[in-house]
Amino acid sequence: MRVGYLQFGPLFGSKKENHERVADFLSGVKAHLIVLPELYSTGYLFESKQELLGFAEDEGGESFNFLKQLSRDTGAAIVASIAERVGEDCYNTCLLCSEGEIKAKYRKIHLFDREKEIFTPGNLPFTVCDLDGVRIGLMVCFDWIFPESARILALKGAQIICHPSNLVLPYCPRAMITRCIENGVFAITTNRVGTEARAGLELKFIGLSQVVAPRGDILVRADEEEEGIRIIDIDPSLADDKMVTQRNHLIEDRRVEFYGDLCGPDR
Ligand code: ACM
Repeated sequence: MRVGYLQFGPLFGSKKENHERVADFLSGVKAHLIVLPELYSTGYLFESKQELLGFAEDEGGESFNFLKQLSRDTGAAIVASIAERVGEDCYNTCLLCSEGEIKAKYRKIHLFDREKEIFTPGNLPFTVCDLDGVRIGLMVCFDWIFPESARILALKGAQIICHPSNLVLPYCPRAMITRCIENGVFAITTNRVGTEARAGLELKFIGLSQVVAPRGDILVRADEEEEGIRIIDIDPSLADDKMVTQRNHLIEDRRVEFYGDLCGPDR
């Protein structure tokens, strides 16, 4: 299966230009699954919820339509996050589009920093979508720091976790290696590059998009600045082998009777 990432630097507020760039990057590319960065069409650093509301879209919106059409034009499944508007709420919504349709939708559950002031936390369960027999799980950026996110996707059968991101902290690319090892899954983390200076803040995004294999090997990783697409061949069925040794199974060896505190009252 040919999978990969498109790492680039979206221009804040310029959906038309961002869509043209994504379409150019993907033109002529042969792949089954491509992951774009988080909020690839709008950029990230909104001044206020009011500003975000102006960019966020309902299901008929420009980015929804673009992603559906892109999946039709390229023949690849496309995963990306966009700003979704539902009434006065805005979600950081991850879509999996294939053959011109939305096949799965997930709304970012764990909001990062200022996102808490402008986005509404996701209200949909973690989701795994069957794509021609390959099971694809969705999470968005800061979900990585909660190991429960990747674990739930693995328990739901995900073989490949797609992870659109706008990373600013340096830890995630390393942490995702552990997420892959502890769950026996592939992960495609697509980050953006560049800097946004708005709302009196400046954020530098760290790049380092990567595809990691179930035993933690980094199959491909971008550098901190480059823009471009990387596609590699993987065998998703490698994620079905959950044996760590002949006697240790990543899922079946869990001792859930000792894990009750995980979901109990805080501290
Ligand atoms: C992030 O969740 N965009 C860091």
